[in-house]
Amino acid sequence: MITIEKPLSKAITERRSTPSFDGTPIPAADMKKILEAGLSAPSGYNMQPWRFVVVQSPDQKKRLRGASYNQAKVEEASAVIVACGDSDGWRRDLDLMLQQGREGGMPESYAEQAKSSVPDYLSSFSADKMFGWLNKQVMLAFSFMLLTAETLGYDTAPLEGFEQDKIHEVLRLPMSYRVVALLAVGHLKGADKFDGGRFDITHTVFAEEFGKPIKL
Ligand SMILES: Cc1cc2nc3c(=O)[nH]c(=O)nc-3n(C[C@H](O)[C@H](O)[C@H](O)COP(=O)(O)O)c2cc1C
Repeated sequence: MITIEKPLSKAITERRSTPSFDGTPIPAADMKKILEAGLSAPSGYNMQPWRFVVVQSPDQKKRLRGASYNQAKVEEASAVIVACGDSDGWRRDLDLMLQQGREGGMPESYAEQAKSSVPDYLSSFSADKMFGWLNKQVMLAFSFMLLTAETLGYDTAPLEGFEQDKIHEVLRLPMSYRVVALLAVGHLKGADKFDGGRFDITHTVFAEEFGKPIKL
């Protein structure tokens, strides 16, 4: 079957946070595209501290719903991608990152520098600072996945309404993992959400320095 992808510009303007899903399964080939898009995102030092758990089984989705303030869409979605950050990932993955980098042409001087600067930088982080750093990286990969799903014709819903400890329990996550957000993916059931609109560009964008309007 030939799938005609929706242009990114259309996916961006037409996207809504889907209120309800019909639950039809997502073909594995599409799920692969969605996940690989996320894994292609940039990250600090290319450390890729994101980890994802894809939940598709009815039983596990039901449990996940219980850990997400009973939000029905968690159970209704075809798949829920649980986006996490691993605060210890860099400890294990630094050598792998450098090896892959060298294979891709990373200069030896860069590799040598990264070998010390990555641990120097990340090991100095407090737990809160690490969560902030992880959130930043994970949400970028998450956004790549969300937009890719939309271009493939799926509907999506980002979710932050969940209980960290309960998700840990349901998914048996390692202690070093932090759940950042859930991405429900599937097909819209019923009416779509209202369009809440966005603040005017003059409200949120400045030119050159704070307070100066941008001329476009
Ligand atoms: C990080 C994040 C977390 C969110 N968490 C929830 C959630 O737990 N439940 C929910 O119904 N909507 C959630 N939303 C959806 C927002 O309410 C929605 O994006 C916002 O109202 C704008 O609507 P739109 O996405 O349709 O443009 C979340 C959105 C984001 C970006």
